[in-house]
Amino acid sequence: MSASTDSGQPASSSTRIMKQHLIDPEVCIRCNTCEETCPIDAITHDSNNYVVDATICNHCMACVPPCPTGAIDNWLNVLTGRPHTLEDQFSWEELPPVQEEPGMDGSVSVAVAAAGVLVEDSGLDGVPSTGAGSSIPPWSAAQPQVNLYTHKNPVTATVVGNYRVTDEDTESDIRHIVLDFGAVPFPVLEGQSIAIFPPGTDSSGRAFHARQYSIASPRDGERPRYNNLSLTVKRVMTDSEGNVVPGICSNYLCDLKKNDTVQVIGPFGSTFLMPNHPEANIIMICTGTGSAPMRAMTERCRRQLKEKAFNGKLMLFFGARTQRELPYFGPLMNLPADFIDINLALSREPGQPKRYVQDLIRERSADVVRLLDNENTSVYVCGLKGMEEGVLQALESATGSAGGQWAEVHAKLKAQGRLHVETY
Ligand code: A2P
Repeated sequence: MSASTDSGQPASSSTRIMKQHLIDPEVCIRCNTCEETCPIDAITHDSNNYVVDATICNHCMACVPPCPTGAIDNWLNVLTGRPHTLEDQFSWEELPPVQEEPGMDGSVSVAVAAAGVLVEDSGLDGVPSTGAGSSIPPWSAAQPQVNLYTHKNPVTATVVGNYRVTDEDTESDIRHIVLDFGAVPFPVLEGQSIAIFPPGTDSSGRAFHARQYSIASPRDGERPRYNNLSLTVKRVMTDSEGNVVPGICSNYLCDLKKNDTVQVIGPFGSTFLMPNHPEANIIMICTGTGSAPMRAMTERCRRQLKEKAFNGKLMLFFGARTQRELPYFGPLMNLPADFIDINLALSREPGQPKRYVQDLIRERSADVVRLLDNENTSVYVCGLKGMEEGVLQALESATGSAGGQWAEVHAKLKAQGRLHVETY
């Protein structure tokens, strides 16, 4: 007897197939963005994989735009009632082959995987809603390259520099690491990231997953017209509860010597990209190593300024424990005040009150609002997860103190690709 639908009609082959939302374990860099973004907790993970629970996922698409690699954007046709279980997905090293459907005549037809499903509109001027930031880049951003190198074909880069950018006697060991790609093309834009495989295996013998790092240099290289890029990496020595647990990849990277080689995949990211028109203004808000993309954008603008291709304003809010623990403090202070408006929020500077970036945004609210009112202005937030809420509240109160409505301003910034948030 053939299957029938509720209407009593024989089931067509399409009614026996459903699309299951799955994460490609070969492309996923385990950055946790999808799990954080999912509004209904359909995404979870174990030490091996990030997975989607087919019994919860409603295909709302909220997780798709923020995923830096596109690993989340996989939709496999499976037989209705036979989705891949969480246990299946936890064990995968790669996506499974598509299920075969028995045909009416006993033959088998292969269901086709439908990757790259279009993002649905949220109703906000056609822009998907994905949390605080925008899911599209500013209109003048350059076209990024993504996923050129994947788990299956990583590229080898050579370390050409590893310098500490915080004072030697401080607890914060933050490194500026320069990687050279030789003759292998590795085109990047400011705001993009790469991921690096630490060598070795975990306790169950599996190779460590790649870890993601923002690029700290502009598109034409740490050294102009060289095929290299830089990263800003903090040596992690404790877990989130403060127990001594050295970070696997950060310690590997911070200990690298000149001429060592690393395995790299990427580049990733297609929204946290800077505007490129000469009148563009950029407000940058960061803490610690969240300064990496801000350094990349600032340096791009500085090089453009020399070529008279940048005429906008840069405003930076940068939080660190102390001045000596603020990465790149010296070079930052050498930048001319008429090029970049620098606001340092130091939280543990002896003899000074504790200040966070959001405190300084409030203090500078008139100037912040003047820039926000200008459609040439884009805002970038990068750093500790904890600052995100505080920064949004500070932007809200700044807007309110100038008589504006943050809800309207926020929606417009998001819809125009002018507010970008990357916190961890
Ligand atoms: P704190 O001294 O309170 O830890 P880190 O060095 O750990 O990467 O932190 C960088 C800076 O970010 C520090 O000054 C830290 O202050 C600050 N910070 C911590 N939590 C927040 C928050 N919720 N909002 C803004 N800044 C924060």
